[in-house]
Amino acid sequence: MSAQNHLFLRFLKALREGVSDNSNDFHNFVFSNSVGRTVASRHVVIRDFIEKNHSIIFFSDLRSPKVHSILENKSTACVFYSKRAEFQIRASTISQILKDKALVDSYWESVPNPARKSYLTVKSPSSKSNERTDGLPKNFNSFEKATCSKGKARQNFCVIENVITELDLLTLSPRGHSRAKFTFEKNSVQMNWLVP
Ligand SMILES: Cc1cc2nc3c(=O)[nH]c(=O)nc-3n(C[C@H](O)[C@H](O)[C@H](O)COP(=O)(O)O)c2cc1C
Repeated sequence: MSAQNHLFLRFLKALREGVSDNSNDFHNFVFSNSVGRTVASRHVVIRDFIEKNHSIIFFSDLRSPKVHSILENKSTACVFYSKRAEFQIRASTISQILKDKALVDSYWESVPNPARKSYLTVKSPSSKSNERTDGLPKNFNSFEKATCSKGKARQNFCVIENVITELDLLTLSPRGHSRAKFTFEKNSVQMNWLVP
C-alpha cells in the first residue's frame, strides 16, 4: 500500500471512529469560519462523515451566529487532533445548511431526548443576558412536556454540512514527522508531501 493511501486511510478511520465513539479524540473538532474580517472558532461534535463526497456533518441551532456567517461566506475549516494517535487533520471546507427536510428529520431522530432541550433556549444562542442563564424557559419542565414534543426544538435544529476541498494531514513521531496535502477535484485526488 502506498504512503498516500496509508495516510488517507488513517484519516478515514479517524473520522469514522469520531462519529461512532463519543469517547474518541476525533469526536470533537474545531470549526472556524469568517465573520466579516475576523475569524470565529469553536468546538463542535462530528455527527456524520459522508465518504462519497468527503463531508463532515455537525448539528447546531439555526439561530446561532455561525449559521448567519456561513450564509454570508461558506469557506470554513475543520481541525481535529488526537494526542494519543499523534495525528492532526486540517480540512478546508465549503459549508451549507442542509435544506432536505426528510434528511434533517432523520438526523433529528438521532438526537437523544435530553439533548433536544439545547434547541429550546428562549433567545438565540450567543444573545446577551443580564444574569447567569441556561437560556431555557423559567417553567422548563412543564414547557418541555407541552412544547418539546410539538416540535419547537426541531424548528431551531439545523444540520451543517462541510464538504472537504483540501486536507492537510500531519503525523507526529519521534522518528520524524510527516505531512501531506490532498486536494479534491471532481473525480480525482491530488496528493503532495509537505515539509512538516
Ligand atoms: C465539547 C463541545 C462540543 C460542542 N458541540 C457543539 C455542536 O455540535 N454544535 C454547536 O452548535 N455547538 C457546540 N458546542 C458549543 C460551541 O462551541 C459554541 O459555544 C456555540 O455553538 C456558540 O457558537 P457561535 O456563537 O459561534 O455560534 C460545543 C462546545 C463544546 C465545548
